[in-house]
Amino acid sequence: MPIIRFVTSGAAVDFADGDDVNLLRIAIRNECGVPYRCASGNCGTDRVYIESGRENLSPPRKRERERLGALLDEGWRLACQTYVSGDCAISWDPDQTALDERAIDRSLPTAVNERLRRRWLSAEDTD
Ligand code: FES
Repeated sequence: MPIIRFVTSGAAVDFADGDDVNLLRIAIRNECGVPYRCASGNCGTDRVYIESGRENLSPPRKRERERLGALLDEGWRLACQTYVSGDCAISWDPDQTALDERAIDRSLPTAVNERLRRRWLSAEDTD
């Protein structure tokens, strides 16, 4: 079974061989401590440094490239935009905030985060 190591929090989560798992979703479900806000590639709060296993990650898409810019080349990814298919290890700054506060709709984040969290932790969500 592949394992994702969350170096900053000390957590480790395994998943079934052959699966492609969303990095932020698995972090939230297992309370691994990755900070996040929008879960849609806009804010950059969930940026994580890939310590190992880059070859097991989905290629970055346009939105992630635009949000991370040069950080992408330095080894950072957005957890909400990244799918994992094999072993990897990630770290982050536990106090990091959004790369662009303007990208966050200040009227929605708390409610959106709570809705997402409830959905991703529910038994019905099997993606
Ligand atoms: S949580 Fe906002 S970009 Fe991923």
